Amino acid sequence: MNLQIQNLSKTYANGVRALDRVSLDIGPGMFGLLGPNGAGKSTLMNTLATLQEADSGTVTLGEFSLSGDPVEIRRRLGYLPQDFGVYPGTSAWDMLDYIAQIKGISDRQSRYETVATLLERVNLTDAARRNLDTYSGGMRQRFGIAQALVGNPDLIIVDEPTAGLDPAERNRFHHFLSEIGTNTIVILSTHIVEDVSTLCRDMAILDGGKVVAQGSPESLRGELEGKVWQKEIERGELAKWESDPRTIMTRLHAGRIRIVVGDESSPSEGFSAKHPDLEDVYFQRLKQSHSTEAAA
Ligand SMILES: Nc1ncnc2c1ncn2[C@@H]1O[C@H](COP(=O)(O)OP(=O)(O)O)[C@@H](O)[C@H]1O
Ligand SMILES: [Mg+2]
Repeated sequence: MNLQIQNLSKTYANGVRALDRVSLDIGPGMFGLLGPNGAGKSTLMNTLATLQEADSGTVTLGEFSLSGDPVEIRRRLGYLPQDFGVYPGTSAWDMLDYIAQIKGISDRQSRYETVATLLERVNLTDAARRNLDTYSGGMRQRFGIAQALVGNPDLIIVDEPTAGLDPAERNRFHHFLSEIGTNTIVILSTHIVEDVSTLCRDMAILDGGKVVAQGSPESLRGELEGKVWQKEIERGELAKWESDPRTIMTRLHAGRIRIVVGDESSPSEGFSAKHPDLEDVYFQRLKQSHSTEAAA
């Protein structure tokens, strides 16, 4: 079963065009939706989760369409929103039990088994009876995954789940995400390149409401092979390189300034070839999309 998004557009009342003819074909497995703040990720995720409507375009999940069969889509969907709040004074167990009821698991025994299995899966069995508001950020996000998994959804959407987690928590969270079945479509929205390079077989980059790249991380990276160069520069040269259209990024490395440049051949003296990584792809695509925008 595939999720097919065609020409989805959304302009908010204040005139912001949050989605601009977004088209994506997403198959089973982990799909990364990468983009900076304001790219339109949450707008897209909320739309797919049937919480808000687009102005135009179509979305289908297998045989069901978002506009025609929202109830069927909802039944097959698990969602971890970006601003996932928890009810204070409620334990993980009670909350999951409640969500399982909403999702139509009416039999007490199967609900008990569902809740116990999910908590086990995200390693929260020992904290099952604790109130959710006493959970750490990492525990909360793991609980968020458990609630999204209730009812074995075909489509799981997680919006910026790792923002605010420390590295160890993020790593643990990655493991739980990667254990979701390979028959499930999982869309991971994030502004963190490493989330996508670690987890996803397939991805898209969203910027200014537009899809500016899509493919496997490997193929996108491969397109830059032999075309990325790096060099350490003096502070005085920074302005010149920052205004150079070929510069992909400048960053501090052990207190020195390192620039990464995209070009068919070595830009000048002192550059060495760099093995392109997904971050190079990301920053180059963002830069390209901004320069086309400026020219338009
Ligand atoms: N309810 C809203 N009303 C008006 N503008 C909005 C609303 N929600 C989001 N936006 C704007 O739409 C753009 C995309 O936002 P969002 O979908 O939240 O992006 P992301 O999740 O990638 O950060 C941003 O410019 C944001 O300010
Ligand atoms: Mg967002």
